[in-house]
Amino acid sequence: MSFKKICVLGLGYIGLPTASTFATHGMEVVGVDVNRRVLDTLSNGEIHIHEPGLSTVVQAAVKSGKLTISEKPEEADAFLIAVPTPFYLDKTGEHNGEPYKLADMRAVTSAAEAIVPYLRKGTLVVLESTSPPRTTVELVKPILEQTGLEAGTDFHLAYSPERVLPGQILRELIENARVIGGVTPESARAGAELYATFVKGEIIQTDATTAEMVKIMENTTRDINIAIANEFARLADRFGVDVWEAIKLANLHPRINILSPGPGVGGHCISVDPWFFVEAAPDLSPLIYTARKVNDEQPHFVMSLVQKALGSLKGKKIAALGLAYKPDVDDLRESPAAEVVRLLLDAGANVRSYEPFKTDGLPGIPMTPTLEEALKDADAILLLVRHSQFCKMNPSKVTALTSARVVMDTVNAWDAASWQEAGFQIFRLGVGKFSISD
Ligand SMILES: NC(=O)c1ccc[n+]([C@@H]2O[C@H](COP(=O)([O-])OP(=O)(O)OC[C@H]3O[C@@H](n4cnc5c(N)ncnc54)[C@H](O)[C@@H]3O)[C@@H](O)[C@H]2O)c1
Repeated sequence: MSFKKICVLGLGYIGLPTASTFATHGMEVVGVDVNRRVLDTLSNGEIHIHEPGLSTVVQAAVKSGKLTISEKPEEADAFLIAVPTPFYLDKTGEHNGEPYKLADMRAVTSAAEAIVPYLRKGTLVVLESTSPPRTTVELVKPILEQTGLEAGTDFHLAYSPERVLPGQILRELIENARVIGGVTPESARAGAELYATFVKGEIIQTDATTAEMVKIMENTTRDINIAIANEFARLADRFGVDVWEAIKLANLHPRINILSPGPGVGGHCISVDPWFFVEAAPDLSPLIYTARKVNDEQPHFVMSLVQKALGSLKGKKIAALGLAYKPDVDDLRESPAAEVVRLLLDAGANVRSYEPFKTDGLPGIPMTPTLEEALKDADAILLLVRHSQFCKMNPSKVTALTSARVVMDTVNAWDAASWQEAGFQIFRLGVGKFSISD
């Protein structure tokens, strides 16, 4: 097959870098989105997400005429679907009142429907959105076959999981190994050929459902590993141990690699994808479900740390540093840091949040435009995200910027001794002792 023109549906964190990388590698690309703000921003030569280097690549792609932005698809040799697959809380009570979350597949459905009028013999369609097992064959295939064309015979259909790391997307898109699962071996081959346009990592062909499962297995494994780290933090707190020291020592074992605890798990992937297994096969996934619950409850553990440090929270002025779900990104989706702030506000604390990557923040969360403003007049400083800017904070300089003398570190970014020397009392997540002499 030779691909000259492709259409990418969904121009977010995944679709926009993918569309522009194809375009800068010579492909004619139509980028499609349904969000007016996204379309207007891109049409003005700007971008709506923070990702290092992306603005330059998008501008180059648009300037060369290879990337055009549109509100609807056009006929093309291949269609890539990179639309959101969030979850929603199941309110039917069907799961014994337990907090089950279900996949919201409406965007995938409408993207597949939007392709139908443009599907021709020989076209390739690739679903990239993280999806529950069997989505490609049971949801997308029947929609596309409304054309009367048969998947695998008349047109190619494949699933390809995206595994890029936000902050490194442009490099990882090219260098990472890529799995392509076809509804037939020919479909997998067609997908492999398309991505060979720019992928330098290994391209591995398999079937569509295996490819779907690979992606969810990866994120589920990380979720479970973080859950055990979070549980270790709670246990260390109970037993008077410093969890960070204990993890460092345990990880000296050649076959042990315990991850870092923190305020919880967020983002569009790890906190969402394990639910796709739980929803599809609840009888087979008790461990996955429990790990999700442990991580979702972690903001409450942070609350207990804050209560330990400050006693009553009513009226306490807290400078909360960071709202993103992980370091050095602007993504606030499902962020546990934001959840901690909400819990503190509900408990009557007077919280001012500072998020350097997204100063407009989230509805209902009072924000400050600068770090200085968040620190000024605070009773306590609560570090929630390991942004590089926060890691570099010098406690002896911070003393001059704030009236706070209590700091709480939930991500092990700060050296306790330096903060103590500068006159702060420091409380750390998962640390049931203050110093080696305790
Ligand atoms: N962000 C990541 O790091 C990451 C990593 C791996 C996989 N994924 C998966 O990739 C998929 C996309 O994630 P994202 O982070 O790029 O989402 P996003 O929210 O950043 O972007 C999705 C875009 O799709 C648009 N959209 C929604 N419905 C549409 C439709 N019917 N037609 C065209 N456009 C539509 C939205 O307006 C939005 O701009 C998700 O399934 C996600 O789980 C994301």
